[in-house]
Parts: sequence; C-alpha cells; structure tokens
Amino acid sequence: MDTGTPAVTESTIAKAPAKEPLPYLEHQTSQRPDGFIPIYEPWLGEPEENLVQEVMRSGWISSAGKYIRQFEEEFAAYCGSSHGITTSNGTTALHLAVHALGLGPGDEVIVPALTFVASANSVHYTGAHPVFADVDPHTWTIAPDEVARLITPRTRAIMPVHLYGQMAAMPELMDLARAHDLRVIEDAAEAHGAAIDGRRAGSWGTIGAFSFFANKIITTGEGGMLITDDATLAARCRQLRDHGMPPERRYWHDEVGFNYRITNMQAAVGVAQMTRIDEVIRRKRAIAAQYAQELAGVPGITMMAEGEGTTAVFWLVSALIDSPFPLSRDELVVALRQERIDSRPFFHPLDTLPPYRSGNPSPVALSLSRRGINLPSSPTLSSAQVSRICATLRRFAAHG
Ligand SMILES: Cc1ncc(COP(=O)(O)O)c(C=O)c1O
Repeated sequence: MDTGTPAVTESTIAKAPAKEPLPYLEHQTSQRPDGFIPIYEPWLGEPEENLVQEVMRSGWISSAGKYIRQFEEEFAAYCGSSHGITTSNGTTALHLAVHALGLGPGDEVIVPALTFVASANSVHYTGAHPVFADVDPHTWTIAPDEVARLITPRTRAIMPVHLYGQMAAMPELMDLARAHDLRVIEDAAEAHGAAIDGRRAGSWGTIGAFSFFANKIITTGEGGMLITDDATLAARCRQLRDHGMPPERRYWHDEVGFNYRITNMQAAVGVAQMTRIDEVIRRKRAIAAQYAQELAGVPGITMMAEGEGTTAVFWLVSALIDSPFPLSRDELVVALRQERIDSRPFFHPLDTLPPYRSGNPSPVALSLSRRGINLPSSPTLSSAQVSRICATLRRFAAHG
C-alpha cells in the first residue's frame, strides 16, 4: 500500500535515557498470565516512552509545545489533507466541526442510525437536529439512497461514519452533497488510513474528524483531530478550539469558543504512533484476513467484508451471527467471556436510544445491531491468539 507517510522515523525521535528500564510494553496481550484476550489494547513502546519523557523533562506539558503542530502536520499529510487541528477527543473534534460550519437550531444533519452516540451528540450540542438514515446491509455504513430520501430544505450537512474501519460510500455521498449544496463532515474516528481508490478517510468531505482514544488505530490516550483542505475553515476551528481567541490578539474574543485543546504530552504520543501507523494497519488487515480464513464456511457466521475498491482498516473485526449458529449473539458474548475472550455487541441504533428515539427505528440498523459482534482486534494479537478465538467459535458452532 502506498502510505504517503511523512518522514518520521525512529531516528528522528529523541532518545532520553531512562533511569531504570520501564516495563516492556510491546505485545501486551501475549503476556497476560491468565490468557485473557481483551477486545482491544493499544500498541505502545519505546518511541512513545521516549517522547513523553522528553516532554516531561522540557516542562512543555500543556497545549503549547512543538509536538502539537508536528502531529497535526504529519497526520493531516498522511490522510492527504492540507490542515490538521488537534482536539481534546474525537467528540470535541466533531462538535467543533459542526459548530465551525455554522450549523445550529433549525438545521438538519443526516447521520447514520448505526454509529457511536458521539456522532449524533455532536450535532445535538449545536442545537441542530440529527436525522437518522438507515445503513447498507452489506457495508453497514450510511446508505446513499436513504440519505437522498431524507434531504429536506432544512438539510445542511451529511455525516458519514466509517463504521468499524469500513469506508462509507463516499463517491456517491459526495455526489449527493454537491447536488444539494450540503457540507460533509466525515466521522473517521474508527478508520484512520482506510481508503477508497487510495483516497483516505477524512479527506473526502468538507472536514473529517478522528479519535485517538486508547482503542483506536493510533492513540494519544484521549485526543482527536480535524482535517480539511479549507484554510479558512481550519483557521476558524483553530480559533474556536482556543476560546475563540484570534492568534494575533490575546484575550480578545470575537465569539464564544471552547477549550478543546490537546496537550503536548498527548501529541508526543501521537507523533510516536505515526512511526507505526502503517504497521498497525498492516497487522490489523492480516488479523482480519486470518479470522476470515479460519472462520470461512462456519454456518451462521458472516464476517465484515471489504467494500469494492476500498481498503478497510478493520478497527474492530466484526461478524454477524445468525441461525444455524447455535447461540444467539448475546449468548455468544457470554460464552466467549467464559473462555477468557472479550467481545462487544454492535452499537444500538441511535433512533432506539432515549434521547433520539423515533418510534420508527431504522430496520437494517436494528437487524445488524441485534446480530453483530466485535471480536478481539488489537494490533498486538498473535496469530496463535486469533487461532484460539477461531477454534473456540468453530467449537461453539459444532456443539453449541
Ligand atoms: C464513530 C465514532 N465517533 C466518535 C467517537 C468519539 O471519539 P472520542 O471517544 O475520542 O470522543 C467515537 C469513539 O469511540 C466513535 O467510535
């Protein structure tokens, strides 16, 4: 895969000597004495330790410091965008994007019914109204024909979500957006590096948002980023992120902004993570391929497949559980836990949750939500661990 990774190498990372060797952090799952396999754990090691230590020793631990701009520039370039604006997390990135685009009361934003709640919340915070579109039964991402059906004179934006590392149908959605003069806010929190025809998640729309929570493709602990090619929008996001204060006039506030800044310590972790992002994605794709191979032909298990022309990053390797598999999805989650294997049920459709309940839930999202399971997906998983998980699933399939 052509990565376009900027020139960050181990050799560019300062090596501050540690007084005592810190615990070795690579490949943590394989070191758990009880054999428990978590759903996800970050892949951290020496590059992260060294940069955090350097930041600690420099005293630049808050939101001024060289690693913030470095991380923004490297990650935006990696995604193929001109500007990166770090934020305190993925939710604040999304909120900042919706706010900076001027959306508010009276406006509608079309959001997929199947996503993490932060997608819709970020719209709700501004006073705009999230309108839920059903998802495609094959890709599980927002269905363009559903979006088309839901566009009204109040619609101002579409928020595609690249669910579980699978790209939404961006070419079709961008066509719709152009035809109806809509902004596109890509929620790429789960899809760093995923692409369609080589064009990466987050770089298709007006603006793209990422999360760097500990279970994401790359992490800064907590953290987020917006990417965009629009210099004016980028400057506006940057200013709103810092209490609405223009860079050239301290303590002057043209409007009410936010403190959505990331710290230099977190950004340092992000810069170190950029040295391994390609390897994380390579491993995750290999892990997904191994799952698919070892579970092929198991009746009642359908693995998430990569869409045509797309590169999925398999944030969470996911499957649908149906008859004749002898356990329901919920029973399977419990049975796996008894085997010391962690898993997650799919998100509830947002139009079934109390704040957003419509009484008329999206049928495809509801069906997927009841049948879907996320399997352990850490980049640190060994092939022996994936084999153990697959053997357990095959045993359940055979004996219930
Ligand atoms: C699709 C989606 N959007 C937004 C977010 C919010 O990111 P954060 O947890 O960093 O606020 C997440 C996080 O899990 C997510 O999965």
